[in-house]
Amino acid sequence: MQDDPNDAKASFDTLYTRPDPRDYFSILGSLDYAIPELAKPVFRRAANAFRKIKGRDASILDLGSSYGINAALFRYPISVDMLRTRYARREMMALTSEETRALDKAYFQSWPRARPERLVAVDVSAPAVAYAREVGLVDDGVAADLEEGAPPEIARCFSDVDMIISTGVVGYVTANTFETLLAANARPPWVISFCLRMFDYAPIAETLARHGLKTEKLSSAAFVQRRFQDEEEAQQVLDVLAKRGLDPDGLESDGLLMAELFVSRPPEDVKALPIEQLVRVVSGRELSFGPRLVQVKRGSQRLLAPMRP
Ligand SMILES: C[S@@+](CC[C@H](N)C(=O)[O-])C[C@H]1O[C@@H](n2cnc3c(N)ncnc32)[C@H](O)[C@@H]1O
Repeated sequence: MQDDPNDAKASFDTLYTRPDPRDYFSILGSLDYAIPELAKPVFRRAANAFRKIKGRDASILDLGSSYGINAALFRYPISVDMLRTRYARREMMALTSEETRALDKAYFQSWPRARPERLVAVDVSAPAVAYAREVGLVDDGVAADLEEGAPPEIARCFSDVDMIISTGVVGYVTANTFETLLAANARPPWVISFCLRMFDYAPIAETLARHGLKTEKLSSAAFVQRRFQDEEEAQQVLDVLAKRGLDPDGLESDGLLMAELFVSRPPEDVKALPIEQLVRVVSGRELSFGPRLVQVKRGSQRLLAPMRP
């Protein structure tokens, strides 16, 4: 059995340092990496709630952003599947990285922007952050390992953050990273983390509590991160869960890595809008349907139109 739960999970570290996300989508896509898709409605709903409570748009930091997938999904009407299909084209595979980045910039710019929020990317991978900035998915970015303390860009990027979001990153980062971020911030931000069940979120919640944030877990929901890569990974993760006293039935025992949602906010914001009202889980939206009648806003009008997702 593993001592560090990180050793139980397959390592994809080399995917995170390429100059564009083609390999990322090819490998993680082949394992049906789904968590950014499932997190998107939660992040958007939290940003709506923030606007309602605070009367302004949140400035959002994506921790462990990699190539900016969360930013892409948050900002534009696109999905993980659409991106995966895009990069799987033989013609896309043949391009140089420079050509890929130029086309990606044009691709993202060609979509109507759904959200006005400022977005900042933070990741230990300099090429991934550079990509997210170059193609316009984020307004700013820092390549740094916050486990090691504050980088020089700290004031520029972290001091006015209202919301820290993350998917697939806790485990790579610990409470140290959150301590660095919170210590740099002028006001305590909302922290919205999707954390694999195999990792213990309690040390992070304790750190956030020292900065005045109350953490709630959405205890009635679990979110698929991806399929297990192979039997070895499945067995190792099941061993870690057993060690943590967690029952995998109906979750990891179905062959899937599962995450939970933790939301930390100042107590007055929790009181104004408890997590059950902040987050709404709509189960099944990702299934494929025939044409649906969707509501389209055009100016002040709302029209119904058939849409094939
Ligand atoms: C599984 S990927 C998740 C990426 C992205 N959030 C997503 O869901 O598509 C993990 C990311 O964590 C980053 N990472 C690893 N160690 C880190 C650290 N100490 N600080 C910040 N990011 C780190 C990796 O470079 C990688 O981009």
